[in-house]
Amino acid sequence: MKAAVLGTSGYTGQLLIRFLLEHPDVTEIVPVSSSQAGEKLAGMDPGLGSSGLEKVKTTGQTCVTIEQAKTMKPDVVFAALPHQKSGEVCGQFLETSVIIDLSADFRFRDAAVFTKAYGAAPPRPDLLDRAVFGLCEWHTAAIKHADLIANPGCYVTSALLPLLPLVKEKLIKEKIIVNSFSGISGAGKKTEVKYLYCERTENAGAYSPGTQHRHCAEIQAELDGAVKGSQVFFLPHLAPMKRGIASTIAMELKKAMHRDEIIALYKKYYGGKPFVGIREKGQPETGDVWGSNRCDIGFHIEGENLFLFSVLDNLVKGASGQAIQNMNLRFGLGETAGLRRHGEF
Ligand SMILES: NC(=O)c1ccc[n+]([C@@H]2O[C@H](COP(=O)([O-])OP(=O)(O)OC[C@H]3O[C@@H](n4cnc5c(N)ncnc54)[C@H](OP(=O)(O)O)[C@@H]3O)[C@@H](O)[C@H]2O)c1
Repeated sequence: MKAAVLGTSGYTGQLLIRFLLEHPDVTEIVPVSSSQAGEKLAGMDPGLGSSGLEKVKTTGQTCVTIEQAKTMKPDVVFAALPHQKSGEVCGQFLETSVIIDLSADFRFRDAAVFTKAYGAAPPRPDLLDRAVFGLCEWHTAAIKHADLIANPGCYVTSALLPLLPLVKEKLIKEKIIVNSFSGISGAGKKTEVKYLYCERTENAGAYSPGTQHRHCAEIQAELDGAVKGSQVFFLPHLAPMKRGIASTIAMELKKAMHRDEIIALYKKYYGGKPFVGIREKGQPETGDVWGSNRCDIGFHIEGENLFLFSVLDNLVKGASGQAIQNMNLRFGLGETAGLRRHGEF
């Protein structure tokens, strides 16, 4: 199987290349880069080492342009580009390849919702109907037949996986408060002052609170798609760490529940799912899932007040890992192929 990665030099693109190199069913990799076409892949990512790059032989182990990649007709194209650019470019591959887009460009069915959240119209409104939201545990059947998969955002995955079982069962009164803490790599490889080491180390705080953040719209749209009636307030924070998302979610339930009922509910929805871990005791931490494709969920209940805790690696289950999981589902490969259930510490 031949896979291309657009945006190879970015964080998620770089990680996609590493996953594909280890993937048992991928035989050929086409690294695509606008800024580094013609450069050796191992030069761009020295961490790859000097051997084990046989899968990149078609391009001479160098990065190619988008135009060159089109002539190579990959089976699957991962688009790891900024929003607006991503949809415009990967849409061009749709006649020959399955697209898995890591940007927000195909995540909303409704172009007006995208425009409101992103301040500009989506680049390919004509393709929104064809896109499937790639939250693997919830849209498995549709992903298996999709040619255009919109990989969900990292914050969004950390909120939706714990919330959807409760929303589906209509257990939440209305208001949901999602407090999320993100590692700095969540912003991509940017050189803005606010992302400099001296600005971010020993420093944490909230930004774009309430319903202002773009990802709030994505969380709300997906919850409404399951069952209407909830109202999400999203409080994102930047935390002084490189990778990871920790979300602490607070809500009032329609009735008091016992902890055994909560455990049974999560087992009903996620029992047998390889990449969702349910903590029956204690709260999960980002370090528990670093480098793995897992999202771990814990909870604390006091009468009708329920608090959920979810953690994931923003670059893995929050981006490149879930993208590989989507490829596995779409092409009928083992769901866990090329992915790690256990991370590093
Ligand atoms: N970082 C995360 O945790 C995360 C999580 C979920 C989703 N995402 C989404 O995944 C996408 C990639 O994120 P990232 O964190 O990997 O970003 P990044 O580190 O900033 O990399 C993006 C890459 O896109 C290419 N690029 C940048 N500007 C471009 C332009 N104007 N035209 C064409 N190509 C351009 C560059 O690669 P080349 O020069 O090599 O082409 C760049 O390295 C984004 O849409 C982001 O929102 C990121």
